[in-house]
Amino acid sequence: MKKLLFQFDTDIHPSVFDTVVAYDGGADHVIGHGGLTPENVKALVEGAIFTRAPKDKKNTAIFIGGSNLAAGQALFAAVQKIFFAGFRVSVMLDSNGCNTTAAAAVAKLAANRSLAGKKAVILAGTGPVGQRAAVMLAKEGATVAITSRKLEQAINVCDAMKTRFGVDLTPLEASDNHARKLAITDANIVMATGSAGIELLQEEDWRDNPNIELIADANTTPPLGIGGTDMMDKGAERHGKLVWGAIGFGAFKLALQRACITKLFEDNKLVLDAEQIYQLAKDTA
Ligand SMILES: NC(=O)c1ccc[n+]([C@@H]2O[C@H](COP(=O)([O-])OP(=O)(O)OC[C@H]3O[C@@H](n4cnc5c(N)ncnc54)[C@H](OP(=O)(O)O)[C@@H]3O)[C@@H](O)[C@H]2O)c1
Repeated sequence: MKKLLFQFDTDIHPSVFDTVVAYDGGADHVIGHGGLTPENVKALVEGAIFTRAPKDKKNTAIFIGGSNLAAGQALFAAVQKIFFAGFRVSVMLDSNGCNTTAAAAVAKLAANRSLAGKKAVILAGTGPVGQRAAVMLAKEGATVAITSRKLEQAINVCDAMKTRFGVDLTPLEASDNHARKLAITDANIVMATGSAGIELLQEEDWRDNPNIELIADANTTPPLGIGGTDMMDKGAERHGKLVWGAIGFGAFKLALQRACITKLFEDNKLVLDAEQIYQLAKDTA
């Protein structure tokens, strides 16, 4: 029986990146739908859950993506609300790679060491990747702050993650590199999750900071988020700190996303969000 992955995207055009990874993860056919909302998804979900016999339903799965995490979370919840009794298929949320990217980076940071009690600052952490990375670091026992150019934006995402995961995150306003340098003064872990091609810190902003132990930068597009690092860094030592660059952990992120797709077809009841995806990352990091 063919493995069908329905790619439900909150953006108009379903992510090509997610389509390719879905095929590489084992889907026989990927069917993309864009512009989806809780209001227009019902018939699509019903088509997925009513068409195959109970033992065959595991061959149909749903992947939810898009650039807006709040919209993705709402769609993810709406899809599951339509399921009832055995009429369900496995479903995964990964808006803009939020869960797989954050899980890959944090699992690398947490490999072979405890992050409990460490202070972490996520620079430009208001995007999908930063929000989920903050949650995963907090679940590891770190004290986590998120910076934004606008305090209100940082407060909003901290509140959203508190509502969803029960974690306490600290919102910080840091509108330029100097403010971000001050924001990381006491940090042991610095993670950059700003938009592609935006430099958030220069090398001199972090190089001589004695508190920083671990650095990760998710930005793959030059200039990098953290100057003085290399996107290929794989736990490289720089100025006494261990650095993970975006490509350095990116291969693991891709492998993780593929592994999640593979897993979706093992059962028809799986729900893959931050908790399950981070666990999978930790098991394989
Ligand atoms: N390595 C990988 O495998 C991988 C996979 C997926 C994504 N990525 C990368 O991960 C990063 C995060 O992705 P995302 O989707 O979460 O990011 P995003 O939503 O595009 O951006 C995150 C935040 O960056 C801030 N920002 C935007 N323009 C800025 C500017 N000019 N100056 C300072 N801050 C600015 C914004 O925060 P405020 O408006 O709140 O300040 C925004 O919320 C991106 O660079 C993406 O390309 C890497």
